[in-house]
Amino acid sequence: MSVRMASPLLLIVLLMIPEVFSENGWGVSYSPSHICALKNSSVIMNCTYTYPTGYKIMKVFWTKNPVKGEESLDLSEDPEYSQRLQYLGDTQQNCTIRLSHVTQKDEHMYCFRFISDKSDGKWTGYPGVTLTVTDLQVEAPERVTEGHNVSLTCKSSCTLTDRATFIWYRNSQPLTERRDGNNQLLLQSVRREDAGRYSCALHGHSYISPAARLSVSYPPQGAFVAVSPSGEIVEGDSVTLSCSSDANPPAEISWFKGGRFVGSGRIYSISNISSDHSGEYKCKSINEHGEKYSAAVTLNVMYPPKSVSVSVTGSGEIVEGDSVTLSCSSDANPPALSFSWFKENQSSAVGSGQSFSALQSGRFYCEAHNQHGSQRSDAVTVIVHGVYQSVIRQTFLLLIFSKKKRKCDANIKNYNINL
Ligand SMILES: *[C@@H]1O[C@H](CO)[C@@H](O)[C@H](O)[C@H]1NC(C)=O
Ligand SMILES: *[C@@H]1O[C@H](CO)[C@@H](O)[C@H](O)[C@H]1NC(C)=O
Ligand SMILES: *[C@@H]1O[C@H](CO)[C@@H](O)[C@H](O)[C@H]1NC(C)=O
Ligand SMILES: *[C@@H]1O[C@H](CO)[C@@H](O)[C@H](O)[C@H]1NC(C)=O
Ligand SMILES: *[C@@H]1O[C@H](CO)[C@@H](O)[C@H](O)[C@H]1NC(C)=O
Ligand SMILES: *[C@@H]1O[C@H](CO)[C@@H](O)[C@H](O)[C@H]1NC(C)=O
Repeated sequence: MSVRMASPLLLIVLLMIPEVFSENGWGVSYSPSHICALKNSSVIMNCTYTYPTGYKIMKVFWTKNPVKGEESLDLSEDPEYSQRLQYLGDTQQNCTIRLSHVTQKDEHMYCFRFISDKSDGKWTGYPGVTLTVTDLQVEAPERVTEGHNVSLTCKSSCTLTDRATFIWYRNSQPLTERRDGNNQLLLQSVRREDAGRYSCALHGHSYISPAARLSVSYPPQGAFVAVSPSGEIVEGDSVTLSCSSDANPPAEISWFKGGRFVGSGRIYSISNISSDHSGEYKCKSINEHGEKYSAAVTLNVMYPPKSVSVSVTGSGEIVEGDSVTLSCSSDANPPALSFSWFKENQSSAVGSGQSFSALQSGRFYCEAHNQHGSQRSDAVTVIVHGVYQSVIRQTFLLLIFSKKKRKCDANIKNYNINL
């Protein structure tokens, strides 16, 4: 308890110490005694001093961190300071100095010392001016969602004077609008154009803070599928689908073929494409703020004829003088429009067109063509019976029929008898 009581008491005692540290007419007064300065700026250390009448001032100088009993060093003789230190005072009462281009290395206590013509007439104004040097840092969230409000703060490690006016920059361009009070920049209802590198400075000072990157996040703005190579796709080709989508953070991409998930990633590659890959493809772009589907892109894979076959209308056995029609079918993309007909073991074609009338016995096959290639079918057998052979056959059939008829008549008779 007693310890806690001590500090407010100490504070009161400290506040009661007068600004002018004088004793028998000797004294130095600093105003202010604590200075918070911006890096690379110039600092005025306001100072007045008094001494009793009858003394003549022989030497005045500033020193840093004086130690009692040790000789104080004149800063104007210190190479670290000599170029930057300017005495603005006089040899009567004003001991003001200016220190330019301050850096963090200048953070010390600075004291004024004066020496008179009499041996007892020396004085160091202690404690002196405490200098703190600050830089500026932009404090901002890394990411803000479109439409939200965000506040950026220009931070200093010590409190700069009330008169300090902050200036803001985006991508090195000064911002004229939307400056909030004091050291804050308020961006209301953030737009995508607000993204960029923000830095701050103090009006009238050359120092500019390091930039802080502000990223504005938004849902996918659209999704577009590009097919490479463009143009006709033929079986065996390698095809790449790529999905582009503007989103922040970058979107996750997934691929759908006819509504079924087939893969993920910005690129969907199909090597050695086949007709099974034909169909409608879409990509989906998604981030934490939303999702978007692309329009469907149709892959139409071209291929040469396959599954070529010949169908026979009616029977493959016919009578001489009649004909049998053979028809060629195939699976091809685009559909086969050109056909050739061959008789087995004959090199030249015997016909063309999708159907073919066979007049002779033999084994026939067709060949279907499109611009991507051709394929032949298996052969079918056509048998043409000669006329004589045919007559015998028909007679034979007739005989069987008349025999059957007679047998039938007999049955009727039998039936009658039974009656
Ligand atoms: C220095 O002190 C004088 C008188 O006290 C005052 O008017 C002036 O504003 C001070 N300058 C600075 C830079 O503090
Ligand atoms: C001391 O001199 C400086 C520079 O000439 C001046 O700005 C300041 O007001 C003077 N201080 C007093 C107390 O006269
Ligand atoms: C942004 O600030 C304005 C004004 O202060 C307020 O009306 C609005 O509701 C805020 N918007 C959000 C998303 O917080
Ligand atoms: C320091 O200030 C001077 C002008 O006073 C300026 O020319 C220089 O570029 C500044 N240096 C830095 C690092 O800001
Ligand atoms: C391409 O696919 C076909 C059938 O799908 C296969 O017969 C062929 O060997 C494949 N070619 C390559 C280069 O993988
Ligand atoms: C066609 O020739 C092959 C041999 O090249 C032979 O095996 C076949 O029997 C021949 N077919 C006909 C119908 O002559």
